[in-house]
Amino acid sequence: MTVSPHLLSPFSIGDRTLKNRVVLAPLTRARAGVERMPNALMAEYYAQRSNAGLLISEATVVSEQGIGWQNSPGIYTDAQADAWQPVTQAVHDRDSQIFLQLWHCGRASHSSFFADGSLPVSASAIAIANDHIHTPTGKHPYETPRALETEEVAAVVEDYRRAAERAKAAGFDGVEVHAANGYLIDQFLQSKTNQRSDHYGGSLENRYQFLSEILAAVLTVLPADRVGVRLSPNGVFNDMGSPDYRETFTYVAQQLNALNLGYLHVMDGLAFGFHQLGEPMTLTEFRAVFAGCLIGNCGYTQDTAEAAIASGQADLIAFGRPFISNPDLVDRFANGWPLAPEAPMADWYSFEPAGYADFPAYQASA
Ligand SMILES: Cc1cc2nc3c(=O)[nH]c(=O)nc-3n(C[C@H](O)[C@H](O)[C@H](O)COP(=O)(O)O)c2cc1C
Repeated sequence: MTVSPHLLSPFSIGDRTLKNRVVLAPLTRARAGVERMPNALMAEYYAQRSNAGLLISEATVVSEQGIGWQNSPGIYTDAQADAWQPVTQAVHDRDSQIFLQLWHCGRASHSSFFADGSLPVSASAIAIANDHIHTPTGKHPYETPRALETEEVAAVVEDYRRAAERAKAAGFDGVEVHAANGYLIDQFLQSKTNQRSDHYGGSLENRYQFLSEILAAVLTVLPADRVGVRLSPNGVFNDMGSPDYRETFTYVAQQLNALNLGYLHVMDGLAFGFHQLGEPMTLTEFRAVFAGCLIGNCGYTQDTAEAAIASGQADLIAFGRPFISNPDLVDRFANGWPLAPEAPMADWYSFEPAGYADFPAYQASA
């Protein structure tokens, strides 16, 4: 009997076929050093997880301005693009595919990340409330960011375009535009954090304008089926959650549908925090307005993933935490092998080699 016949079956996006419908969710692991440079250990880590049909890289900053996490990688220099090449090669050698997640932290940053001590930028000057950030100079409360001037936005859009260009040069199969989890694009999309009075704020159309411009720029570099977008309509991470979340994210998905993108990646599950402003948005709601490939994520198990695909709610399911301690997650699914316990949080973002590429594959006891 085939275990999980739907989850473990191939799926085509555009002209490429994924060997199964398991996706490595983007996971910041902070092993790129202060230079934000991909390295051999990262190549080994991604190679180990290439049993997934599609890998989405950890969030990768498109510019120095976009930095907000210690030792996360970048894609804003040619040297970084070169250093990503062994990673993409290792994944391709194992018959998988990898998209680079493009990131700008916006207000989820701190002045101590910037050499000139400037404030982080956002849609509006609204701080993340009641939370702290780990920075190179220690743990600090979030600061009130500076709202980007209207005429500054084009330069940020251009950073995304150049990042896509470098991702292509580095051998990535595509890019995922990170519009989730309260980072800069989400800050523009949501009414809670976007109180601008120019054409990037106010109406739904205006709040979508920033993402629209980024996608238009990225689509000058890559064909539409090599571009995905990630959304977190239910999320509370980074102090998000807006009263009009359903209207906002339905509208955004409708706009994305018209672009024939490779996929829409929705964190529909509530296991990463829920804003509790109403009923959570479901994959079925996104299905109704988005005709392309839909990836579900957050809190899925093998069984719930199989059920979501079998029922047609999702085409692919992304797994995050299970992949940290189970590099061979798909083999464990295929063989009915037990999963390793979840990795301790201390391993998640530590800068150390330990707790990263050293989780063993399943060993059947003799
Ligand atoms: C250690 C860690 C790092 C993460 N880094 C990212 C990231 O870089 N980009 C992103 O979009 N989500 C990130 N997430 C969220 C995951 O992609 C995923 O949505 C979350 O873990 C829920 O899925 P799961 O229940 O399968 O773990 C991260 C989560 C964890 C636990």
